[in-house]
Amino acid sequence: MMQKIQDAVAYIKNKIGAEPVAGIVLGSGLGNFAEEINVEQEIAYGDIPHFPVSTVEGHKGKLIYGELGGKKIIAMAGRFHFYEGYPIQDIVFPIRVMKYLGIKTLFLSNAAGGTNPSFKVGDLMIIKDHISFFTPNPLVGKNVDELGPRFPDMSEPYSLSLIQKAKKIAAEAQIDIKEGVYVAVTGPTFETKAEYKFVNMMGADAVGMSTVQENITAVHMGLPVFAVSVITDLGMTEGNHTITHQEVLEAARAAEPRLTHIFKTLIAQL
Ligand code: HPA
Repeated sequence: MMQKIQDAVAYIKNKIGAEPVAGIVLGSGLGNFAEEINVEQEIAYGDIPHFPVSTVEGHKGKLIYGELGGKKIIAMAGRFHFYEGYPIQDIVFPIRVMKYLGIKTLFLSNAAGGTNPSFKVGDLMIIKDHISFFTPNPLVGKNVDELGPRFPDMSEPYSLSLIQKAKKIAAEAQIDIKEGVYVAVTGPTFETKAEYKFVNMMGADAVGMSTVQENITAVHMGLPVFAVSVITDLGMTEGNHTITHQEVLEAARAAEPRLTHIFKTLIAQL
């Protein structure tokens, strides 16, 4: 594992300038976020040693290095999901690589189904905690002690100080921001009505197919995480409500400028 990380890090370091201070993972429909970045280098996943290659529509599959909020950052345009069939270790490999490229904070974004009845399509939700019982844990297997401990503490998976700062940034920009618990599922099916109801009963506000594995991997390495869900559909809506991937992408695109403002301002404050 360490050798694979070192191979990928060496390849990327050779192509970029100063160490990035933050890593960003762009979720479904959030690829245009990249337009805010002063791009200095783009590296296709397929060119990076040991990187898996992304297959889903709306995921571009490249690493972007450049400047955002006056800081050097590295962004993943396109992430890897369990439902695509990758082994869990491959899904989180880029997070480990970004850590060894020097990032000090990880920013995660995703599209998620809202199960909190007060949510609207297009809302942003800061993830304050998560439930990962339904997806494989990326740390299963022999622990790599160089990366982190066998039994990581998960009492603050999302940095409380970053959450406080983000709420202030949102308030100052008059951006309505929610806060909630995200539950991860494998997908690729969206949830049944009974499943959405169960998510809500469990104490979660949103459900999605990513993020928690990346979060666990970062926490394992002692890397602070800030994460936001874009609520792209509402699971608790009464009546016959269908969801398409297209609707998810459109809702995410519409919310993108607000998400970008928060990430960018937070990065400027790092
Ligand atoms: N469920 C799971 N994942 C999702 C959803 C959803 O409703 N919306 C966007 N990603």
